[in-house]
Parts: sequence; structure tokens; C-alpha cells
Amino acid sequence: MSIADLVERHPEKHTRFLLRGLRRARCRNPKKGIEVGVSRGRNAYNMLESFPNLHLIGIDPWEAFEPEHVSRKFAADFFEARPRVRQHRVFRHIFKTQEYHEQNYEIAKATLEPFSDRIDLWRTTSQQASTQIGDETQDLVFIDGDHTQANIDVPLWFAKVKRGGILCGHDYGNWHDWAGHWNVKPSVDKLCKDEGLSVRLFRCHVWFVVKSTTHEWLEEDDASTITRTRRRRD
Ligand SMILES: C[S@@+](CC[C@H](N)C(=O)[O-])C[C@H]1O[C@@H](n2cnc3c(N)ncnc32)[C@H](O)[C@@H]1O
Repeated sequence: MSIADLVERHPEKHTRFLLRGLRRARCRNPKKGIEVGVSRGRNAYNMLESFPNLHLIGIDPWEAFEPEHVSRKFAADFFEARPRVRQHRVFRHIFKTQEYHEQNYEIAKATLEPFSDRIDLWRTTSQQASTQIGDETQDLVFIDGDHTQANIDVPLWFAKVKRGGILCGHDYGNWHDWAGHWNVKPSVDKLCKDEGLSVRLFRCHVWFVVKSTTHEWLEEDDASTITRTRRRRD
């Protein structure tokens, strides 16, 4: 099977809620954005398709976890005695190989080819990449990388968002948070407490923080009125 056969451009489930949240956050025409954790590029594709003026930097090392990685360590201990549980789809991501990541990198490049003038893929970690990005320069940052590092990533990328811009991400309150393997929820909650802001949640564990104390969200009713109006016209 060739890389072209593996390209999928339909939205991931969480992408729908990300785009819905951006609409409700009145984010209509972002120009500079970052995605931390690109994988096969499906979310990036849909963001670029939705926002015609968006220039996106996609950051991902496309590297298998090191053995000392906390999830891997947990997995090794936990699954040693439970080999059948290891096969469950919820756990499969923990055991990705380097070949899998190399293939994902090729798929991401092919997926994003139609937007090659508006996407830069940086093959590096979130924290290394952040040193190349100026503070308060981004309209939008979406964090979906290594969730065990959320305590570092969340404040780091918040600093890169412009006043009035949006920091958002995936996997807030996922069961991994409660089990203590990830730390998205505690990190986002701490940021909000420190900055006097609030988090807004959407389905599929999608979270949003707007870097402004005066931001007004478009409420569900307003959003559904727009949808209903559009439907009637159709
Ligand atoms: C869940 S996937 C991202 C999915 C993608 N956002 C989407 O919705 O289509 C997580 C990605 O984070 C990447 N990742 C892992 N550690 C990272 C780090 N330190 N910095 C940036 N990305 C990282 C992994 O290689 C993996 O491709």
C-alpha cells in the first residue's frame, strides 16, 4: 500500500468539536497558528481547509517514546501481567514503533501537500520548537502532543498566544488524567487559576482558554440559530 492510499482527510471526531469551539469563540480569521502534535496531519488539514488565511506550524518529533518515558514505564509494569489487555485499542498508542512514526510523517506530508504554501512541519519536540517562536505572536495554538508534559506545554504555549488569542487542546479530563498518567486537566486548571481565566469545554475532551478576561463566547443558541438559518436557506 502506498502513502497516497493512507492519506485520510475527513475530520477526526475531536476536530469537529475544535472547529465548533473556534466558531463559538468568534475565531473567524486566524492568520498565525500552531499545532503541537500533528501525527498524520488530519486535524491540521481540516484547520487549513477551514481558515483560508491561516499559516500553520505543525510540530511533532515523529519519534517513538524512549523507554524511560513515563507512559512507557507505566505500560511496561502494568501490562507485563496483562498481555491481553495490551491489545485493546485504548492502549495501542503506547506501543508505537519508530516505523509507525516514520510512516505517519510521510502521510502528514502527503496529506498537507495541498496547503504546502501555508504549512511548515517542524520535526522536533514542543519544547525545542517553542524557543523559535516569539511571545504573543500566535492567534491560535492547539496542543495535542505528549500529554505527560502538559504541565510544561500549557504555560509555555500560553505565552506564545497573542492577547485575545486562543490556547486550546485535546484530552482534558480524559481518563488518563484521572489515573495520573497525563496531566492536561490539572495543568489547564492551574493556568486558568494563575491567569484569572476560565476554561471552556467541548465534547471529545476539547478545551479552550481565550487570553482575555473580557471575551464573549457565541452561545449555543446563537450558533444553532446560524445553523438553522443556513439549513432553511438550503
Ligand atoms: C494524538 S497524536 C496528534 C493527533 C493530531 N493532533 C490530530 O488530531 O490529527 C499525538 C502526536 O504527538 C506527538 N508528540 C509526542 N511527543 C511530542 C512532543 N514532545 N512534542 C510534540 N509532539 C509530540 C506524537 O508523535 C503524536 O504524533
